[in-house]
Amino acid sequence: MAVVETRDLTKVFKEGQLGAVNNVNLETREGEFLVFLGPSGSGKTTLLRMIAGLETPTSGEILIGGKVVNDLSPRDRRIAMVFQSYALYPHLSVYKNIAFPLKAQNVKKELHKEKVEWAASLLGIGALLDRKPRELSGGERQRVALARAIVREPAVFLLDEPLSNLDAKLRASAREELERFHRRVATTTIYVTHDQVEAMAMGDRVMVLNKGVVRQLGTDSAVPFRFKIENIEYLGSEWIVSGTLTGGKLDGKKVFSRLSSAQNLQLGGTYDFAVPQRHLKFFDRSSEKRVEPRAVSWQ
Ligand SMILES: Nc1ncnc2c1ncn2[C@@H]1O[C@H](COP(=O)(O)OP(=O)(O)OP(=O)(O)O)[C@@H](O)[C@H]1O
Ligand SMILES: [Mg+2]
Repeated sequence: MAVVETRDLTKVFKEGQLGAVNNVNLETREGEFLVFLGPSGSGKTTLLRMIAGLETPTSGEILIGGKVVNDLSPRDRRIAMVFQSYALYPHLSVYKNIAFPLKAQNVKKELHKEKVEWAASLLGIGALLDRKPRELSGGERQRVALARAIVREPAVFLLDEPLSNLDAKLRASAREELERFHRRVATTTIYVTHDQVEAMAMGDRVMVLNKGVVRQLGTDSAVPFRFKIENIEYLGSEWIVSGTLTGGKLDGKKVFSRLSSAQNLQLGGTYDFAVPQRHLKFFDRSSEKRVEPRAVSWQ
């Protein structure tokens, strides 16, 4: 576990042009799940690659565990990164894919089996070790990529839209799995997404990036949902409030939420709520069946 810090971190790819990342100052908390949220081209990947040591900053500093690491190679930063396109080695078995970083870092061969099995069991793929990547589903490949990333027990885990290749259903379960996994290992994690609902569901805190500049850093409560209240009920220790979302791409969706207090809320009123996405359930207006939330605009 380690804290990641950046100080005025900037990346300008072409002199005279606007930077891809501009004076970003951030500090994770120990063991935190921090989400970078922003539209395409906002600098999320560039920022992550600089932290990982795969991109040289134009200016500014990166600290891991309190030490400046600008001059350290990626492997000396004790960071594991899973990329947008998680490339597995197609000709190698799952076992060898996961063991690859151990081999690359000259970890003693006797230790490989134990470490690979540990990583595979954490991700529930212990039974797949002899298969080749082409014999796996998208979700299973994803888990192999994650197992390969954690096998060296990194101090920091960087995930660049690791679920973007999965369909909606798999995404939801992979997301839950990642959250469970994070709770178990409690490694400081930075997770990149352009999906606001995902950001709110997963992040301890969400950092919003736009044009390479940090717009907002806070808990998911900083991003409100607006809905008209159609029912309020008190259930033992909490309030269940249901209604219809107004505005944005989710306009018209039925929603309900648990709240610890319903003070000042009135039936028929329209309010901005800032509740974690896991406390919201979405329903289709006509069928009233549960639906997956789609991303809401962050403008
Ligand atoms: N190697 C490069 N050379 C020049 N410009 C680059 C390079 N890599 C990225 N950029 C530019 O920097 C900006 C930020 O790109 P980046 O890949 O960090 O965005 P992103 O937020 O990860 O986007 P996405 O959600 O599409 O992955 C973009 O304008 C991009 O065109
Ligand atoms: Mg990117």
